[in-house]
Amino acid sequence: MPIELLKIAKFPPFVEKLLADRFTLHDTTTTAADADALIERVAPGVRGVVGLGVSKVPKNLLDRLPYVEIVATVGVGYDGVDLDACRSRGIVVANTPNVLNDDVADVALALVLCSARRFVDGHNFVLAGEWLKAPMPLASTLRGKTAGIIGLGKIGKEIAKRLEACKLKIVYHGRSEQPGVGYSYFADLRAMAIESDFLVVACPGGKETVNLVDAGVLAALGAEGTLVNIARGSVVDEPALITALQAGTIKAAALDVYANEPKVPEALSALKNVVLFPHLGSSTRETRLAMGQLTLANLNAHFDGEPLPARVI
Ligand code: DGY
Repeated sequence: MPIELLKIAKFPPFVEKLLADRFTLHDTTTTAADADALIERVAPGVRGVVGLGVSKVPKNLLDRLPYVEIVATVGVGYDGVDLDACRSRGIVVANTPNVLNDDVADVALALVLCSARRFVDGHNFVLAGEWLKAPMPLASTLRGKTAGIIGLGKIGKEIAKRLEACKLKIVYHGRSEQPGVGYSYFADLRAMAIESDFLVVACPGGKETVNLVDAGVLAALGAEGTLVNIARGSVVDEPALITALQAGTIKAAALDVYANEPKVPEALSALKNVVLFPHLGSSTRETRLAMGQLTLANLNAHFDGEPLPARVI
């Protein structure tokens, strides 16, 4: 009998196929209106939950699945998974770290470039025939500017390398100073924001980092500063960000993630000083395949009684 999993997010067909070759997938996303009824019906057989890095796996879902043993995210994030609930029931949580570092870091670089050099504006300028009337207004260079990275983990370090190649100075903030890292450390986020031209959010989401970038940090970033976020919308106080952008408290924001995806507040998209991407950090075919393969390896290891290649708890 194939092992049964509850699938709570949409995956590319090639990831779906990888998983479906070994497991029976009960898909709550194709029968959205009947998701509750589906869960009720399949719960007695479900031994695992599979979702994305942004998927929500709250206690009240786990409570409905008495035989669940593992929650596997096709993503590095697991901030939507109730870890306390999992711990208390001995449920394993697995994710897909590392395989997406380069793609996510590329998006951070693209956001910095698009914002400072106005590449999206330039594209729209050509399409609108504006170039025939006048040259494109000047933008700002990256050379010699400072990027303050919040969260110098594996993705943060890849971002740092890319920005260093563009001749930015790198500084970072995190829970603790990292030995052997050649960048200046700021224990105080506001102090780092004052020094930064670009404040780049690259830390995990979850309750420890909710609204870490608040109105005070944005005020410290200042009128020449740009906020870049490739991590989680929850890390930034979104209403405070909108107010800061409207008032010119900060210069610009370049975002891949939002508080309530896929909804982007109208007040944010109405602004001229923003670059907005639709959470495409890891969205390449190659990386999504690698993420799917690592998820399969995690699930196979769990159900075969082997150590997991990427176990969170
Ligand atoms: C993840 O894997 O958690 C990321 O958000 C994907 O971009």
